[in-house]
Amino acid sequence: MEMPAMSIGRLTSRLPIIQGGMAVRISLSPLAGAVARAGGIGVIAGSGLTTSELAEEIRAARKIAGDGIVGVNIMVAVRAFRELVHTALDEGIDLVIAGAGFSRDLFEWCRQAGAAVVPIVGSERVAQLSQRFGADAVIVESVEAGGHLGTQETLDELLPRIVEAVDVPVIGAGGIANGRDIKRVLDMGAVGVQMGSRFAATKESSAPEAFKQMYVRATDDDIVLVKSPVGLPGRALDNPLARSLAAGDYPPIDSCRACLKKCGNEYCIIDALLRAQSGDVETGLVFAGMSAAQIDDIPAVDELMDRLVAEWRVASEEAIA
Ligand SMILES: Cc1cc2nc3c(=O)[nH]c(=O)nc-3n(C[C@H](O)[C@H](O)[C@H](O)COP(=O)(O)O)c2cc1C
Repeated sequence: MEMPAMSIGRLTSRLPIIQGGMAVRISLSPLAGAVARAGGIGVIAGSGLTTSELAEEIRAARKIAGDGIVGVNIMVAVRAFRELVHTALDEGIDLVIAGAGFSRDLFEWCRQAGAAVVPIVGSERVAQLSQRFGADAVIVESVEAGGHLGTQETLDELLPRIVEAVDVPVIGAGGIANGRDIKRVLDMGAVGVQMGSRFAATKESSAPEAFKQMYVRATDDDIVLVKSPVGLPGRALDNPLARSLAAGDYPPIDSCRACLKKCGNEYCIIDALLRAQSGDVETGLVFAGMSAAQIDDIPAVDELMDRLVAEWRVASEEAIA
C-alpha cells in the first residue's frame, strides 16, 4: 500500500508531508533539503533572516534536495515580509507559505513568479478568502500546533469544516506526530499534513542539542501557552522564561530591530527565540506543539520519513482488515 502523493498547483510531492517552517533558524537548509530529498516538501523559515541569508539557505537546500520541492515560510507580520518573499521568488522557490496575517499582494507576486502560494488559515472565512485570491492550497493550523496560534480550535473540529468550505487542497497541521496521525488527518479530507515539532527534533534540524533534548523529555504538563508581542498566543515548552512571561515579568528589550510591522513591545520575541536557538533553553523561548509529548528520539530525516510511511501503512491496513 502506497502513501498518496500530494499535488499543490503544478507541484507534486511523492509523500503528502510538509515540514513546517520554524523560525528563528530552526528549519534551515539542512532540514528543508533533507525532507525534500526524502520525498516531502522541505520548508526554510525566512522570518528573522536577512535577505542574503535566506538566498544562501535556499541555494544550499537545493543542493541537498536534488529535484525535491523546497518552500519558504515567511510570517506576514514581519516587517521585511515583502523583501524576503521577493528574495525567495528571485531564487526560484517552489512555494511560499505565509501565516500570522493575510497578504493580498502575495498572490500576485507568486503568480508572476510561477510559485505556488499556500496561506496558513484558522477559519473558513480566511480559507475562502485565500481561495478567492488564488491560493494553490491552504494549511489549516490548529490549537495543538507549536509556535504562534491563530485559532483555539482543535484540528478535528476545524479541518472537516474547512475541507467543506473550499475546493482547493487542504493540508492539516497541529499535533501530528506519527503515521497514525497522518492517516487520521487524510481520512478527514486533507491532501496532506504539515508537521513542525516532529521535525524540530531530528538530526538535520538546526535547533541545538539542549532544545531537542527538551522535546524528548517533554510530557503534556510541560507544554504551555505564552504571550507573544506578535499579538497571538504561542505554544512553547515550560521553562523559566515561560514562567516569567506568565507572571507578566518580561525580559527587558536591549535594542529594538523593528522586526515586526506591529509589536506589542512586551519583550523581544526575536531575541527570546534566538537565545533558545543558541542553546539557552532557560531564558530562551522554546516553541513546541502538543505533539512534543510524543517525541522520544532524535532520528535522521530519512529514518523518520520511512517510519512515518510504515506507521501510516500499518494504520491503513488495520482499517481495512
Ligand atoms: C520551533 C517552532 C517554530 C515555528 N516557527 C514558525 C514560523 O516561523 N512560521 C510559521 O508559520 N509557523 C511556525 N511554526 C509552526 C509550524 O510551521 C507548524 O505549523 C506547527 O509546528 C505544526 O504543529 P506541530 O508542531 O504540532 O507539528 C513553528 C513551530 C515550531 C515548533
